[in-house]
Amino acid sequence: MAQRIEMQICLGSSCFSRGNKDVVMFIKEYLKKNHLDDKVVFKGARCMGRCSNGPNLNINGVIIEEVTIVKIERILEKEFAGLI
Ligand code: FES
Repeated sequence: MAQRIEMQICLGSSCFSRGNKDVVMFIKEYLKKNHLDDKVVFKGARCMGRCSNGPNLNINGVIIEEVTIVKIERILEKEFAGLI
């Protein structure tokens, strides 16, 4: 059985002011649309200490910075290429 992917988005105030809310909405929709809900654990996280480069997203322990609404789709497509 494939390993589940853990994904955490920073919900700290700096990442919030940089638009993480839109990214959260996009990710939720994307997971649902592609039937990834049972393969991916998606949670919020506290400040990751990289505020000036936010919004930040942690995928299986690797932090991806500057995750904007413009970039998120490409990031997810790359991450989940083998799963969809
Ligand atoms: S608020 Fe997101 S890294 Fe600090």
